[in-house]
Amino acid sequence: MKYVNKLVVAALIGSGSLLANGMALAADGATLYKTKTCVACHGADGKAPVLPSYPRLAGQNAAYALQQMKDIKSGARNNGQTAAMKPVMHLVSDAEMQAIADWLATLK
Ligand code: HEC
Repeated sequence: MKYVNKLVVAALIGSGSLLANGMALAADGATLYKTKTCVACHGADGKAPVLPSYPRLAGQNAAYALQQMKDIKSGARNNGQTAAMKPVMHLVSDAEMQAIADWLATLK
């Protein structure tokens, strides 16, 4: 009986962490997009920018989007409009920008 209990517990822990890992991976970019304030300007799912002059992000290829994020963060890309976004970019690491870019690329 003890043995069976241990097996059940092990199976529960095992499947629980697998599930949690899978969900974390799937949710990452989408969650970061909301928690790191991107949604405030670029709108739900990168499709509804708050101002007509702000870019839509949904469906953009990941390599391009990631490079733009990095350039806006570093100041390499700098014009009147990037000034709006630059102040929030300290909130995201390279890995987080990558996760957001990968997620944006999956949107239609
Ligand atoms: C305060 C408003 C604001 C916030 C917050 C913001 N952005 Fe932006 N974002 C802009 C504006 C404005 C531009 C256009 C910049 C330009 O004209 O050069 C832009 C440009 C971009 C671009 C380049 C689009 C292209 O087609 O070249 C990407 C990618 C992007 N933002 C992603 C993000 C992500 C990811 C976040 C969250 C970490 C974020 N933005 C937060 C306003 C914002």
